[in-house]
Amino acid sequence: MKRILCVFLAAAALAGCSRQETMAELTDRVFGRAAVQFLCLDANMDSVALACPGSPVYPRSINVDGSLWTSDYKWWCSGFFPGSLWYVYEYTGDPKYKNLALKYQAGLEPLRHRTDDHDIGFQLMCSYGNCLRITGDSLCVPVLTDGARSLATRFDPEVGCTRSWDTKKYVFSVIIDNMMNMELLLKGAGLSGDESLREMAVSHAYTTMKNHFRKDNSCYHVLDYDPETGELIKVYPGQGYSVDSAWARGQAWALYSFPMMYRFTGDPQMLAHAVAVAEYILPRLPEDGIPYWDFDSPDIPDDVRDASAAAVMACGLIELSGYVDKDSSARYLSVAEKMIRSLASEEYLASEEEVYGFLLKHSTGFKLRNSEVDAPLTYADYYFLEALMRWRSM
Ligand code: GLY
Repeated sequence: MKRILCVFLAAAALAGCSRQETMAELTDRVFGRAAVQFLCLDANMDSVALACPGSPVYPRSINVDGSLWTSDYKWWCSGFFPGSLWYVYEYTGDPKYKNLALKYQAGLEPLRHRTDDHDIGFQLMCSYGNCLRITGDSLCVPVLTDGARSLATRFDPEVGCTRSWDTKKYVFSVIIDNMMNMELLLKGAGLSGDESLREMAVSHAYTTMKNHFRKDNSCYHVLDYDPETGELIKVYPGQGYSVDSAWARGQAWALYSFPMMYRFTGDPQMLAHAVAVAEYILPRLPEDGIPYWDFDSPDIPDDVRDASAAAVMACGLIELSGYVDKDSSARYLSVAEKMIRSLASEEYLASEEEVYGFLLKHSTGFKLRNSEVDAPLTYADYYFLEALMRWRSM
């Protein structure tokens, strides 16, 4: 009996000593999983492409009926899979992933001349932007500078913003997501020396700070402007629960993009705004750090989460932690770490060959349309890997 008790106590002591996985170990585990998953996702894309030869196919999500959802190169998310492949190549050094990244990136090249949508910022920066950063391939430069000039055609000096969509529902729509695309203008300015691109990005950010944010520093999703006068006409809920609610990914785009603006401009107002956004978000996160799809959903806690918002927020918090005092920095990093640890748990991380080869589960695209709800999304995968790379390079 005594011996059994001793064995039991020794086991309990060992279990008590079991240490937490380090962030380096976690990063290694997640990139290992991503390397397996993305080969599976690529094979699935090849199968879809076989049925529709000639047009490049990109992963998107999973349909309500459980089938794989793909897109063409024009869909705003087409740059995220090549971008994720670039991160896997950067982390592992395995040329297989470089070749895959190039394969998916090649189909995006025509976007450099696209002028009817704002999302070429996401599409070209995640693909060609990472390619340039990682490989130094100078062939990426004209693609990025052309892309920046194409995006610049959407800038209206009266409004002070680049227009988001051309849909007839709005006169001159500007969505908070559009802040992310300012990185293409800023990158394009640096690569080409064309200062007007940078001025447009700064103007867009100031106009967004002025009109897109409520007094509590949460943000709206969609604003509609009158391009004749530059006046705000109307605010729309967009993908949020209501016009007054805080759609989680919208808050995430804000938290990512204002530190990015500060990185390029050194403007203290961008930094102060980024801090204000972070201070709005932090107290509203659930225990595991993964936000519900809308902070004001009446169905919380019986509602779906948005892993993609957490991944984007973690990136923003890690960057912001480098610009603030020691205490705030530690606070932002501890929340980012919590988010990353939750996303890396078996609850969120897909197991091998699960969900067609996406990396993360439980994101939400457009809840009120029942589209991409509690599903994988390519941008959740992309920003999760980016957050891990940002953490590693701190
Ligand atoms: N509108 C882009 C997004 O779903 O975040």
